[in-house]
Amino acid sequence: MKSALKIVMLTSECVPYAKTGGLADVVGALPQTLRAMGHDVIVVMPRYGRIDGSKFGLQRHFESMGVWMGNELEWCAVDKGENDGVPVYFIESNKYFERAGLYHDENFNDYSDNPRRFGFLTRAGLQLCRDIGFKADIVHAHDWQTALASAYLRIWHWNDAALGRAASVLTIHNLAYQGKYSAADYDYLGLQWGNFTPDKFEDHGAMNFLKGGIVYADVVNTVSPTYASETRTPELGYGLAPYLNDKGSDYLGILNGIDYAQWNPAQDRLIPANYTAADLSGKAVCKQALQKRFSLQENANTPIVGVISRLVDQKGLHLLAEAIEEIVSNMDVQFVILGSGDKGLEWYFGSLPARYPGQIGAYIGYNNELAHWIEAGSDFFIMPSIYEPCGLNQIYSLKYGTLPIVRATGGLEDTVQQYDEAAGTGTGFKFLQPTASAIYYTVGWAVSTYYDRRHHILQMIRTAMAQDYSWEKSARQYVALYEQAMANKAARDGAAG
Ligand code: ADP
Ligand code: GLC
Repeated sequence: MKSALKIVMLTSECVPYAKTGGLADVVGALPQTLRAMGHDVIVVMPRYGRIDGSKFGLQRHFESMGVWMGNELEWCAVDKGENDGVPVYFIESNKYFERAGLYHDENFNDYSDNPRRFGFLTRAGLQLCRDIGFKADIVHAHDWQTALASAYLRIWHWNDAALGRAASVLTIHNLAYQGKYSAADYDYLGLQWGNFTPDKFEDHGAMNFLKGGIVYADVVNTVSPTYASETRTPELGYGLAPYLNDKGSDYLGILNGIDYAQWNPAQDRLIPANYTAADLSGKAVCKQALQKRFSLQENANTPIVGVISRLVDQKGLHLLAEAIEEIVSNMDVQFVILGSGDKGLEWYFGSLPARYPGQIGAYIGYNNELAHWIEAGSDFFIMPSIYEPCGLNQIYSLKYGTLPIVRATGGLEDTVQQYDEAAGTGTGFKFLQPTASAIYYTVGWAVSTYYDRRHHILQMIRTAMAQDYSWEKSARQYVALYEQAMANKAARDGAAG
């Protein structure tokens, strides 16, 4: 190995402490893998009120730490825990993090002080590095919430003993969430008015965290190669394609890995029975248990299609809503749906079990154990996403031998191999049009394959379960990305000096 790197990850969520989506899975696993490769990694995140400090053995690290925000000195405390050997520091601020949600209230209204909350988190994370003497080679930020890190390094920390050497990396998990706010908090964020220009933070009169973060970062990546190409176009670039294109080869895609310690049917302790590709009898047990739990007809030969999702526009479930009743009326198939989010979709999917008893099950809410049950007990897993930066559930599905039915976009395109009816090869069923009829016909294709070409399904299950998306490969790509960032930073310093 080349020399060990010192890396600080700044994040708004991380498994097992706080999670709303895949970002938490990524930051819960990538640091461990980097650590196993010999790197020195720390994670910094908020101490949300809902995190149970005693359950995770958190210890007070600093009673008080001062953080400059514009002309104001803000104070916070810092707690410390350990996630499989990786030190995790928690920024504790009652004012900002002692509330029920991470980003929004129970009605899905964003907290109005989000720019202050996450600007503060980011500056506090950098201050912490100074106060504990963590001489970072890499500051690795994730999404708009910590995107300002690259700018703060250049504006405030270019000459620091702790952070002056640090190169910055920004990972975009979702380009649609940019942190675009009125400029009212610009002073508080301490970004300097000279940088409030269209090529940096200014965005049609507002300020844009992600845009500034992209411009200042030494390298930027997203979480699959296909999404990296798609976001370079106006359609999926959400106004930022020009800035991503300006990065040239300093913007690229690295596919997420998954944590097989958590998601592996051979050893998953949350599911009714374990199984392997060589012996799928446990999967049949899981299927029957799932049917029982959702009061579905307990028929081993009826295929189940699973859904686990945030119910937001991105996931295309409004299209599934348009197709599902025709599907269950015309095909012998069952659905199990787990999700929360949009109130209209919650109401709609939540009402289906009563209208299609024995055929559709639904749980509206967030439930990790149920997510594992659905992965294990279903035959197919559907993700009709409008766009999908990576997607983790379809990769979990492959491991559980639950064949994905996906729209060919972003990470879904990169991880699922189309079924070939002549050869019987592939790992799932893909469609391109974002329409209800494409969903209808593709589910029909999967269901007819299930009934008419069972040997193909079995072959696909074996291929799917043998896929390897472990973090080691992705982590090696991140190390190469870190080296690229350090080379860019050195070139920058050389040019300046
Ligand atoms: P995204 O991050 O866009 O939501 P991903 O597929 O990357 O999509 O990750 C979603 C993660 O959140 C998965 O680990 C999935 O199991 C989990 N998840 C989503 N909704 C729920 C839910 N209602 N209950 C339990 N887990 C959920
Ligand atoms: C985002 C994306 C999802 C991705 C996850 C982790 O939430 O929507 O596609 O898998 O981040 O990178």
